[in-house]
Amino acid sequence: MNRDFRTEIEGYREIEKELSVLQKYAIQNIRPQELVTRITDRFHPKRIKMRVSEIREETPDARTLRFVPAEGYLPPFHAGQYINVYITAKGIRTARPYSISSSPFQTAYYEITIKRVTGGFVSSYLLDTVNPGDDLETSGPEGHFYYNPLFHGNDLVFIAGGSGITPFMSMIREVTDRGHDRTIHLIYGNRSPDNIIFDAELKERAQRHTNLTVANIISEPPKGYDGYCGLITSELIQKIAGDISGKMFYLCGSEEMNRFCREEFAKLNIQAKHIRSDSFGLPGDITLEPDWPASVRKNESFIVMLNGGVSLTAFAGEPLINALERAGITVPNSCRTGECSLCRIRLVSGEVFQPAGVKVRKSDRRFGYIHACASYPLTDLKIMI
Ligand code: FES
Repeated sequence: MNRDFRTEIEGYREIEKELSVLQKYAIQNIRPQELVTRITDRFHPKRIKMRVSEIREETPDARTLRFVPAEGYLPPFHAGQYINVYITAKGIRTARPYSISSSPFQTAYYEITIKRVTGGFVSSYLLDTVNPGDDLETSGPEGHFYYNPLFHGNDLVFIAGGSGITPFMSMIREVTDRGHDRTIHLIYGNRSPDNIIFDAELKERAQRHTNLTVANIISEPPKGYDGYCGLITSELIQKIAGDISGKMFYLCGSEEMNRFCREEFAKLNIQAKHIRSDSFGLPGDITLEPDWPASVRKNESFIVMLNGGVSLTAFAGEPLINALERAGITVPNSCRTGECSLCRIRLVSGEVFQPAGVKVRKSDRRFGYIHACASYPLTDLKIMI
């Protein structure tokens, strides 16, 4: 006769009895899971069918797309969060994250503001081929780059570069529309005055709200430009934001800008706990990273063998996830900057380059897992998905 070892666990009989009573008399109570799933799906949908209702020109190379739900409703979000926009172009299914730039109190639509990336597959598709009335699929709002009233205080410094202004625009609209008791110093870097996104609205809000100051920093100013020029240095930060004690610093720009500003923060002795940062992408040219091996050229190609079967070609200068998508293989993804872990795959053999700052868990590193969105092949690879 088979021995039931469960009966030897202390308390097992009591739990068994309780379950049988619940099953008999309280079916509705022991099936709350379906209800919970229905509620979480409403607030955290994995996919939303969106319709583009409006497109606005912001600068010569940036446009705002307004999305309304094609069916159902939009879930709430925190100012600073992003949505992942899925597209299929030239037979390739891919996605990119874009911060929501509209106010979180505007529940009828989300807006994202897209700046053209030279050679950018998705930004070109969204800017050149999408029209009002088109449908697109997005994720629900995601990400952790948002204000936390318990830890961030009321004195905030936002440092943005280029399209890194988008999460801040949502936060500024929230604070100024709702009259929140928070002071914001926005320091916004761009190459030229023509590239300043939301310029008129930011100036107008700063004029109406004494708790918002806006300083534009132009790195390549035209002749006669009389505003702040150059890079966002520690001297400039101190000059604009004043006494830095008690302030929380938020940083959102290219990886290169974020790295530069972190070095400037160090000069001001700003502690890591007073810095929140978000990057809107991996380095444009990964081969310019300080640790990139000089022997590997950007356009060098390697063979990637998948699950011991299919083989595909990947280039050293592109994230592995792009090569997979080009071959019609989709791995789950969201942030595409090495943060969310959704695109985790196992590296069986070979070597990849992972930029500094990409967060791979200790256990993942130990067992050979990598983020496909932030790994660049340096040799032929064998991977498992
Ligand atoms: S998609 Fe988020 S870590 Fe790769």
